[in-house]
Amino acid sequence: MASAMRYALSRRFAADRYNLVMVARNAQRLKEISDEFRRSFGVETHWIAKDLAVPEAAQNIFDELQNKQIHVDILVNNAGFNEYGPFIATDLHQELRMIQVHIGALTALTKLFLPAMVQRHRGGILNVGSTGSFAPVPLNTVYCASKAYILSFTEALAEELRGTGVMVTALCPGATKTEFASRANMGGARIFQGSLMDAGTVAEAGYHALLRGKTRIIPGFVNKATVASLRLLPRDMVARIGRWMMTPESGFFPEGRLDARVSQDEIGHVYDRLSGMYDIWGKLAESRARRRAIDLAGIEDGQSVLEVAVGTGLAFFEIVKRNQNGRNVGIDLSTGMLSKARKRLGKLSGANYELSIGTAFNLMTENESIDLLMNCYMFDLIPYDEMDKVLTEFKRVLKKGGKLILVNMTEGEKLGSKLYDFIYDLSPKTMGGCRGVRLSEKLKSHGFTVEVREYHQQALFPSEVILARK
Ligand SMILES: NC(=O)c1ccc[n+]([C@@H]2O[C@H](COP(=O)([O-])OP(=O)(O)OC[C@H]3O[C@@H](n4cnc5c(N)ncnc54)[C@H](OP(=O)(O)O)[C@@H]3O)[C@@H](O)[C@H]2O)c1
Repeated sequence: MASAMRYALSRRFAADRYNLVMVARNAQRLKEISDEFRRSFGVETHWIAKDLAVPEAAQNIFDELQNKQIHVDILVNNAGFNEYGPFIATDLHQELRMIQVHIGALTALTKLFLPAMVQRHRGGILNVGSTGSFAPVPLNTVYCASKAYILSFTEALAEELRGTGVMVTALCPGATKTEFASRANMGGARIFQGSLMDAGTVAEAGYHALLRGKTRIIPGFVNKATVASLRLLPRDMVARIGRWMMTPESGFFPEGRLDARVSQDEIGHVYDRLSGMYDIWGKLAESRARRRAIDLAGIEDGQSVLEVAVGTGLAFFEIVKRNQNGRNVGIDLSTGMLSKARKRLGKLSGANYELSIGTAFNLMTENESIDLLMNCYMFDLIPYDEMDKVLTEFKRVLKKGGKLILVNMTEGEKLGSKLYDFIYDLSPKTMGGCRGVRLSEKLKSHGFTVEVREYHQQALFPSEVILARK
């Protein structure tokens, strides 16, 4: 399937008896298809092995064809590639090369070959864009920005050229079966998991659009419908959907999963706002996992218990009830959640507890002083690379053999359970900043012994309950 689009486009023109000049880097492959098209269609074929990322390439190609007195009636700017991934991690050198191929070479080739076409009142330019020309697409940030240039450039030039006899068309395919995805190492992206268009069909659409003088062509009904709907949605929403489409199921982060996207500074405010309705959510989606956590905690009266991120006190209430003669300390970042927790604990007469503002990153607790540390739905808010700090704190305050109970939103394992990660991906704050995490391996790497790890799903919401010991 090597360079299937180039092959299909060249073949389509050769089939209509156009002589060909093909440009790419791989000389061997160029020679093979050059020979094939000469044999099959009886057309003249030439090839030039050239790296279009080199700024002088366009001028060199132009000069070479001038010297050979080869006139270009139709210019097809098809060469392209992607540097895929989070912008912070992608290779700048490759991105600058991509910009040179998609923008620099395409503009220069057009500039050089267009005047003769206009003079002859005949000719055409087919620029290969993408459905990504219509949208900002994360993880293809530079690729789609450069493809947007191709569309804008083509549309403006088409208007300039009206009445000259020269056509210019942007061919904007969606995901197509070629080497493109594997070369960019993006075969795992969701967009390439569905049915892909065939390069021959795409080339056919581009060829006919150019001959009919259409300014742009989006091949395929699904691609057309996608682009039409993108135009109706706010750009921010388009970018979020684009991000989801481009993310592999397995994610991009060290643990291969979604990473936290709401900053720790914001979390307190987010939960202040959510505190009014948190209990309804807790009952609907988290109550089974919390009940199981309390069972696993096996609280014995007289213990020293710390709950980090008490929230509205749903678990803390049960802890204090069972540990009347022990020490119960609860902390949380959100004043809104804490005031709910205080109200709830107020219902327990003569209860023995302290509730205060506090952060998991810096526990105001002595070393090795805690028998049981409970923590519900907090790690799912913390970026992976910050989790180690918190686990180090947890280990510091737990007594040897002390119990750590963790409950978190986890990755969905059953039907429908990926819904919440999907919502998170589109809008993290709608999910209160929670995304699915798996903590067992991290705990082990901190020297905890994981005794129990259970998956609980309620209202499609996936939770994991872990009992670990220091
Ligand atoms: N496949 C898709 O899903 C898809 C979707 C939308 C748009 N497109 C666009 O379609 C066009 C064709 O891509 P494709 O899908 O056929 O991918 P492909 O199989 O990877 O082919 C890419 C073509 O571009 C040439 N090329 C890449 N870098 C070059 C450079 N520096 N100098 C000269 N030639 C270069 C390659 O030849 P050499 O490697 O021999 O140089 C090859 O002929 C690209 O513009 C791409 O952005 C593809």
